[in-house]
Amino acid sequence: MPGVIAVGSDHAGPELKEEIIFYLAARGLGAMDLGVPPGTKACNYPDIARKVVNAVLSGEAERGILVCGTGAGMCMVANRHEGIRAANCANEFTARMARAHNDINVLTLGARVLGRGIALGLVECFLETPFEGGRHQERLDLFN
Ligand code: RB5
Repeated sequence: MPGVIAVGSDHAGPELKEEIIFYLAARGLGAMDLGVPPGTKACNYPDIARKVVNAVLSGEAERGILVCGTGAGMCMVANRHEGIRAANCANEFTARMARAHNDINVLTLGARVLGRGIALGLVECFLETPFEGGRHQERLDLFN
């Protein structure tokens, strides 16, 4: 299980971000809260995505979790960065496979799509599913 997780949200999901940070802390994991606070009227999701991505790429955080309305915009921005493998997940099968086969280091979630229980279940899959390596690593090596 990873140590420190960077977590960020745009104005669509700060409440879910807070729930995720609470969940991580309850499991003894470090959480870096990279914004935005609840009550934020509007912000631009690419700015938050870059903060979380930079924390992962610098090694300050081992993995990242990004929340926006759908999870789609955050995923698009995160995946523009070499070394980031992000997946927008809405079901546990995808979240498990995205770890086991794609070795994702960033999970993106849609706060306007998912209930709290589903979202935290996806976080659990993201944290606890190991990468299988082997043929899957060979495929990741073909990315660049
Ligand atoms: C904000 O309204 C919304 O566009 C954003 O949270 C996200 O869903 C974009 O992908």
